Amino acid sequence: MKNKLFAVDVGATGTKAAIVDVKKGKLLTERVKYPTPEKSGPEDIARLIKQLMLDLDYQGTSMGIGFPSIIQHGVCKSAVNVSERFIGLNLEEYFTAETGCQTFCVNDADAAGLAELQFGAVKKAKGTVLLLTLGTGIGSALFRDGVLVPNTEFGSLHYKDGITEHYAANSARKRKEQSWEVWGNELNDVLQYFERIVSPDLIILGGGVSKKLENYQAYLHTDAKLIPAQHLNEAGVIGAGLYARQKMKKL
Ligand code: BGC
Repeated sequence: MKNKLFAVDVGATGTKAAIVDVKKGKLLTERVKYPTPEKSGPEDIARLIKQLMLDLDYQGTSMGIGFPSIIQHGVCKSAVNVSERFIGLNLEEYFTAETGCQTFCVNDADAAGLAELQFGAVKKAKGTVLLLTLGTGIGSALFRDGVLVPNTEFGSLHYKDGITEHYAANSARKRKEQSWEVWGNELNDVLQYFERIVSPDLIILGGGVSKKLENYQAYLHTDAKLIPAQHLNEAGVIGAGLYARQKMKKL
């Protein structure tokens, strides 16, 4: 079935996969997850993906991968939370050769955004929409009238003595053992910084911590309407499948 695709969400700490119905935006299998070894290189990720294909007994010939880097025309262009050995590598060619399955790669936050806009609470949202994933890093997906502007990487914008994700990712809250109030205020500053750049109409917060929005929503004062992602942890996997399907249609 052409709408049934194997899809992977490679994260800095965990790599998840499922077989996805990309037409309905639903998982057709359980979501299998393995820890991503720290600073994993291409061989480590290829090994994980092959294991996930075996676990899910995937017999199809194409797959989608969401990857935590700038991905331009299949080539990895940044490595904040993955090995620098990925930089310059054509991930689509590499994983296709490794797995024998035609592979399409997209930035992980862009994948999550595609899934949310297609199947989430704000289906086909118009205007400027910014989806942020708050996890180990900060991922960003920017849409204008439903069209993705890929690889915005707002988590890597210069901020204070570093970059925004070093202060406002969920990992920063945990590492610094911050209260919801302290972290919420920092996140508020970062969201207002993003607002000054793109003036979004809507901000969608994703990542595991968006499930606990009630703990820090009181500290967030954005001009844009702010809502949690609906697909939460599944959006990355669903969106990777969706991206692959979109690319296949254009071949
Ligand atoms: C990476 C982004 C990614 C985000 C979320 C950041 O460290 O630079 O490409 O989208 O983490 O995984």
